[in-house]
Amino acid sequence: MGNMTEQMTTDTTLAAGHAPARDGYELWLGYRPVRPAERLASYRAYLQEIAVPGDSPTMAAVRSELQRGLAGLLDGPVDVGQDRLQGAGLLTGTPQTASQIAALGWDEQIEAQGPEGYVIRSATVDGEPAVVVAAGSELGVLYGGFHFLRLLQTQQPLAGLDVAERPRVQLRLLDHWDNLDGSIERGYAGESLWQWEELPDTLGPRYRDYARACASIGINGAVLNNVNANPRILRGDYLEKVAALADVLRPYGIKVYLSANFASPLRPLDTPGRFIRDGGIGNLHTADPLDPDVERWWKEKADEIYRHIPDFGGFLVKAGSEGMPGPFDYGRTHAEGANMLARALAPHGGIVMWRAFVYDADTDPDRAKRAYKEFVPLDGKFDDNVFVQVKNGPVDFQPREPFHPLFGAMPKTPLMMEFQVTQEYLGQAIHLVYLAPMWKEVLDSDTFAQGKGSTVARVVDGSLHGYPMTGIAGVANVGSDRNWCGHHFAQANWYAFGRLAWNQHLSSEAIAEEWIRATFTNDDGAVATILDMMMGSWEACVNYMTPLGLHHLMREGHHYGPDLDYDTGREDWNPPYYHRADAEGLGFDRSSSGSNAVEQYYPPVRDLFDDRAACPEKYLLWFHHVPWDYEMHSGRTLWDELAWYYYHGVEYVSRMLETWVELKPHVALQRHEEVLRKLSMQEAHAIEWPQVSLSYFQRFSRRPMAVDVPGGAIHEAEAATLEPPGIVCSSGEHDNTYTSTTSVSQGRAS
Ligand code: GCU
Repeated sequence: MGNMTEQMTTDTTLAAGHAPARDGYELWLGYRPVRPAERLASYRAYLQEIAVPGDSPTMAAVRSELQRGLAGLLDGPVDVGQDRLQGAGLLTGTPQTASQIAALGWDEQIEAQGPEGYVIRSATVDGEPAVVVAAGSELGVLYGGFHFLRLLQTQQPLAGLDVAERPRVQLRLLDHWDNLDGSIERGYAGESLWQWEELPDTLGPRYRDYARACASIGINGAVLNNVNANPRILRGDYLEKVAALADVLRPYGIKVYLSANFASPLRPLDTPGRFIRDGGIGNLHTADPLDPDVERWWKEKADEIYRHIPDFGGFLVKAGSEGMPGPFDYGRTHAEGANMLARALAPHGGIVMWRAFVYDADTDPDRAKRAYKEFVPLDGKFDDNVFVQVKNGPVDFQPREPFHPLFGAMPKTPLMMEFQVTQEYLGQAIHLVYLAPMWKEVLDSDTFAQGKGSTVARVVDGSLHGYPMTGIAGVANVGSDRNWCGHHFAQANWYAFGRLAWNQHLSSEAIAEEWIRATFTNDDGAVATILDMMMGSWEACVNYMTPLGLHHLMREGHHYGPDLDYDTGREDWNPPYYHRADAEGLGFDRSSSGSNAVEQYYPPVRDLFDDRAACPEKYLLWFHHVPWDYEMHSGRTLWDELAWYYYHGVEYVSRMLETWVELKPHVALQRHEEVLRKLSMQEAHAIEWPQVSLSYFQRFSRRPMAVDVPGGAIHEAEAATLEPPGIVCSSGEHDNTYTSTTSVSQGRAS
C-alpha cells in the first residue's frame, strides 16, 4: 500500500467512526495514521512504552500531547505513563524530572541547548533501546516532544537519532490586533479568540488549543490586544480576565503581554469616539512621562498587573503614530516615554516593546525615511529592558519592501523584528500566499552594517551587535473561524512564522514541506505539487499586485484591491504619492538625486540601490523614477515589462487553480472545496489588478498595451465598485478608515 492521503484517511477512519472531521480546526496537529503498514510497524516497535515522569502542568501537557499525537499516528490507543521506562520506548524529561535521564550523564549537552532547547537521541536506557527527549527545562521537553511528533508526521526514521535544537531568538511572539469589542484590526478569520464578556469565569477549549498550536512551533508569547490599544485593558476587571487566560496558556510556555495606551493615566473622557486616542482609565490630567505622578501611576499599575499575573511579559506600545498618544504630546522623546514604562516593569522582570512604526510628515517628506530619522539618534538612550520593534520594511507591510534601514543602524538597542502574518496587503484570507519566502528575503538581506555577512537575521538574533535580548513578533492571522485563519493555506503562514522565529536559517521549502505533510498528506507526488504551488505564490502575488518595486496602491481603508488614484486628503496615504506616474515614467525617486532614502543604507547596499542600472529590478520603482521606455534586463521596455509581470502573476494563480482541481484525491472534501472557492475568487481578483493598473498607467505612458488585458481594460472608477466579499474594513473600536488630514495629530501635541 502506498502513502495514505488525507482523503483516504478521512474516508476510512470516518467509516470506523472515530476520526474528527478534517475541517481545518486541528491545524497541523491532525495526526493521521502512519502508512504504509511496515513503517507503522517499525514505529510501533520503537514505541512500546512511553514514559513522561513529572507532576507539573507542563509535564502533564507533554503527556497529553504525546498521548494524542501518538494515538493518531500509531492508529490506536497509546499508554503514556509517569513511571520509569521498563522496556523499549520513549523517555522524556529533564534530569530533575526523570532519574533515568539524569543517569545518562548528558548534562553538558543538555545545558548547551539553553533554557528552551532539547536533545533527541537514540540511547540505551537500563539495557533497553530507547529514544530520549531530554531538556534542561520542562518547556524544552514540551518543544522536544512536539519535535518528536513531527519526525513521525514527516515519516523520518527513528534509528540513530541525534538531534540538538535551541531557538536562536529568545522572544517569539504573536501580536494580536484584537479589540475589546471582539473585532480584530486587519483580521480576516472571524472575531477575536478572546471572549472578554465570558472571562474570567468561562474558559472555552479553544484557548488551550491555541496554546498547543503555538507551543508546537515554538511561539512563547502573545500580545493579547491591538496596538491601537484601548486603555481599558489595564483596568482591574480586565486584568482578572487576562490572568485567567495567562493561566491556560502558561503550561504551554506562552507568556502574556499587553499593548498599553500611553494615555492610560488620564481620566476617562465622556466622548467615547475619541477614547482610544485621548482618554484614559486613571485620574491624572497628564500622561507626561517625566511627571512624578505619571511615573507613580505606571509603577502602581505594573505592581497590580504582576499581582494578577506573576510572569507577565510586558508592554507593546504604539506611540506617536497614526494619532495614538505618546511622549511627543508632552515634548518628550521616544526614549523618555519607553524608559518610564520600562522602569515600572523592570523590578518584575518585564520588558517594553516600543514600536518604530512612526511616520510624522514633519520629519521628512519621504515616509520611508521617517522612522530611521526619529530613532537612530536615540540609539543607546533606551533602558536595558526596552526593545524597539521594527517592521520588516520602511513603509508598511507591503507585498514586497526592501529591508528596513533601521536594521544594522541601532547597534546599542535591541531591535525586535515585526512581521505581519495576517495578509493585510496580500489578499487577506482570500488569496493563497505563502509568506515564508518574503520573510526569508528580509532575514537573508545583508545590511553590511559591519561588513559582508551582517544580515538582518544576525541583527535580530543578536549576534551582530551582541544584543542581550532578542525577539521576533508576528501580527497574528487567527480568529474565531473554525479553521482559525480563514484560508486553509493561511495556516501555513502561522506555522512558518513560528518555525522561522525559532530558526531563521530554515528554508521556506523545508518549512512548507513539514506543514504539508503534517496537514494534508505524505504522498510524495502530492507533497511536491502543493509545495510547488506554495513556493511561487508570494512572488506571483507581488507580480499581479505591485511588480518591480511598486507599493501602497491598495484601496483605501480595507487595503484589498487596486485603486491608484484616490485622494484621502493626506498625502502619504495616497497611491500617487507612491507610484509617481507621469508622462516621463513611473516610480518614487529615492536615489541620491531624489529623496535620498538610499543614504540610510550602508555601502555597498546604498550604492546598489542608488544606481538605477544596478538596483535589483524587484526594487526598481521603490528607489527610482524610471522612464517608460527604459530598457529592462529582459530587453523589454519598462512599460512592456510591467504588463509581462502583471500577467505572469495572474497566470500563476490560474495554474494554482488547475493544480488544486487535480489534487482532489489527496485532500479531504471540505478542505478541497473551500480552497477551490478561494482560488477562484483569487483568480478573479488578481485579474482586476492589471486591468485597473495598466489602464491607469496608460493614461501617462500613452503606449499600446503589450498584452491583451483579460476581460478588457477597466477604468478604476468602475473597478472601485468591485468590492471583495466579506471584507471588514475597520474595527468597531479603532476606525482605521478615518480620513486624516494634516490636522490629524501624529501624536504630537497640536
Ligand atoms: C497599518 C495598518 C493599521 C495598523 C498599523 C500599525 O497601517 O493598516 O491597521 O494599526 O499598520 O502597524 O500600527
